[in-house]
Amino acid sequence: MSYIPISVVYTDQPRNDFNALITNVYGLGPFETYLAKRDNVFPLVSGSSFYRQILPSASLNLGFSATAMHWLSNKICNISNYVQTVGAEGPELQAFRKQAHSDWRQILIHRAHELKPGGKLVLIDFGTDEQGRYLGNTDGINMFDTFNQIWCSFLEQKRIDRQEYENMTLPQYYNSVEEFSAPPVGADKPVFQAGLRLDHIDTRIVKCPFAEDFKKTWRCGTICRRIYSVNSQLEREYLFQCLIQRPSHRGTPRNYRRLLRYLQNHGSGKS
Ligand SMILES: C[S@@+](CC[C@H](N)C(=O)[O-])C[C@H]1O[C@@H](n2cnc3c(N)ncnc32)[C@H](O)[C@@H]1O
Repeated sequence: MSYIPISVVYTDQPRNDFNALITNVYGLGPFETYLAKRDNVFPLVSGSSFYRQILPSASLNLGFSATAMHWLSNKICNISNYVQTVGAEGPELQAFRKQAHSDWRQILIHRAHELKPGGKLVLIDFGTDEQGRYLGNTDGINMFDTFNQIWCSFLEQKRIDRQEYENMTLPQYYNSVEEFSAPPVGADKPVFQAGLRLDHIDTRIVKCPFAEDFKKTWRCGTICRRIYSVNSQLEREYLFQCLIQRPSHRGTPRNYRRLLRYLQNHGSGKS
């Protein structure tokens, strides 16, 4: 049986480690490749950020993205007392919100240009739901509060200084359902004018795979190793770019592992 030809274009920001992707797509690692099961599929890789138009206009049939578009195009300011916008307040929150609204519009306008008439976009993104829940804050302990407490304890112990504490601010924003939905609604909006329409939006809570693993072993080391192995280069870099100026802290992966070791000790001390 011969199938219609399909190009699959994988895209991430240019500094992403594409080796892991290539390993998976071509079946060089533990996962089976779909290329072994189907002819006429042509994988391609792009290093264009989703803040640019990635594909030629009107060339995309189906776009898919998961858990990536909470990363903003740049960090508008530091947050003085927290590590992420979920804990930001006042003018700092306003600045992030303004940036996030403009970024989301930009992402959608580029995708609208790329889509063919009748094409579809499926986006699964971190957000804040109708009950105020978000990644790491769905039930019980708030992950970002814990992260912030650990970072504050580093500051108190003088392992980092005030500037380094603030530099930790992650350039991320979790849109609400209304914020996700706003750009394609209303004939006067540029996203609507570019042709995009909202078919469906809903919120779901997905079980954390790390927590599920942890429940099997109750060993912090396992969860730390797993998190380290799946975090993208970007996430590792953001986590420690605030310390890179320090000669004693040079070497991002080493610092990252140091934090994980700290979490490991901290976790096992408590459990
Ligand atoms: C949490 S990972 C999700 C990866 C994958 N989609 C998945 O679901 O497993 C977030 C990804 O978004 C990428 N990313 C962040 N900002 C980006 C940008 N401006 N353009 C393209 N990719 C970006 C990061 O490099 C990282 O690979």
